[in-house]
Amino acid sequence: MTFERTILITGGAGFIGSHLLRLMVNKYPQTRFVNFDALTYAGNLANLHDIESKENYIFFKGDITSPSDVNEAFDKYVPDGIIHLAAESHVDRSIEDPLAFIRTNVLGTGVLMNACRQHWKDNFEGKRFHHVSTDEVFGSLGAEGFFTETTAYDPRSPYSASKASSDHLVSAYHHTYGLPVVISNCSNNYGSHQFPEKLIPLMIRNIIQEKPLPVYGEGINVRDWLFVEDHASAIDVIFHKGIEGETYCIGGENEWRNIDLVKLLCKVMDTLLGRPDASAEQLITFVKDRAGHDLRYAIDATKLATELGWRPSLTFEEGLRKTAEWYLNNQAWLEEVTSGSYQEYYERHYLNR
Ligand code: NAD
Ligand code: DAU
Repeated sequence: MTFERTILITGGAGFIGSHLLRLMVNKYPQTRFVNFDALTYAGNLANLHDIESKENYIFFKGDITSPSDVNEAFDKYVPDGIIHLAAESHVDRSIEDPLAFIRTNVLGTGVLMNACRQHWKDNFEGKRFHHVSTDEVFGSLGAEGFFTETTAYDPRSPYSASKASSDHLVSAYHHTYGLPVVISNCSNNYGSHQFPEKLIPLMIRNIIQEKPLPVYGEGINVRDWLFVEDHASAIDVIFHKGIEGETYCIGGENEWRNIDLVKLLCKVMDTLLGRPDASAEQLITFVKDRAGHDLRYAIDATKLATELGWRPSLTFEEGLRKTAEWYLNNQAWLEEVTSGSYQEYYERHYLNR
């Protein structure tokens, strides 16, 4: 079979990457998709069972920090588009081991962009590099206001600083070499296949197992939650229709204080598990706060809505229920991803917190 084009997606075995691949592989049968992933603790090919036998899907095991892995994939598949999601993505781990984040998120992004220059020979006609980034690069908001595309960068954790550095590198390659880039900065995602080190799947797993629900500090930090399939649809729109050199903020218009979100999730889980009211809420335990914990993130996604016509499709209540149902129906997945080094991480991070 011949394809009209080839898009290489880095980090496609992770949470957001697997949703993006599922959307795009099914939507664009004439495009070949190469999933370039190192399969770290966060990458799992089981996330892609339903598309792995499609003709337009290929998996390539490689590390973005390795020029030889990246060059091999470029030589073999000759991609004309890159959507770059591969990263170390968990803030708590970045506090524990910042260098791993600098290596993957900064160096890895640089290696990829160098490969684009080298293989595309600085002839960028019909090419595109989409860098998937986070709202955390903008720092922390007070009670008022929103992040927009013009907000000044002010990263405050090793994770957000490494993502901010990678955003700056991508912009620099655009301005200096003319690399045709777009950047998107998204708020907190939730949904199926998210590694249970992140708030929502961690709480779901602990509720199922009737373990303490560790809320950092007083639970007053605010996040803007977006259903992961809506993030995937926003990336699709921005990759295909976004203006070269531009940045787009993606958000859910859906702010929740952590404690309120956890209480809502407790109610949803009690209902789904058929347990008496307030069973899960009794498990809430306030623990030592995250170092440098950003107070509030909230996105104003007006540019994406008005210029590219994208909007979130689900209410939070619908999305949260769907998400909780998925984890309940896929407890084997939860057990599989938590069977390796996760236990060690969990004990190190939460014991005596
Ligand atoms: P994730 O941790 O679930 O997945 C990361 C993937 O990258 C994994 O499959 C992993 O194996 C792969 N990877 C890691 N290091 C690699 C390397 N050196 N070479 C090749 N592959 C490697 O992450 P996620 O939550 O799906 O996030 C994806 C991207 O979206 C990240 O860039 C993240 O910064 C960004 N983002 C995430 C969120 C969120 O809420 N999760 C929100 C906004 C932006
Ligand atoms: O804003 C986008 C970012 O959202 C992404 O760039 C990151 O990759 C993603 O991990 C996420 O970062 P957060 O730090 O906001 O997500 P996390 O799920 O780790 O935490 C959400 C909030 O819940 C945060 O305020 C910390 C708090 N929390 C988290 C955990 C894991 C707890 O109270 N208890 C916990 O056990």
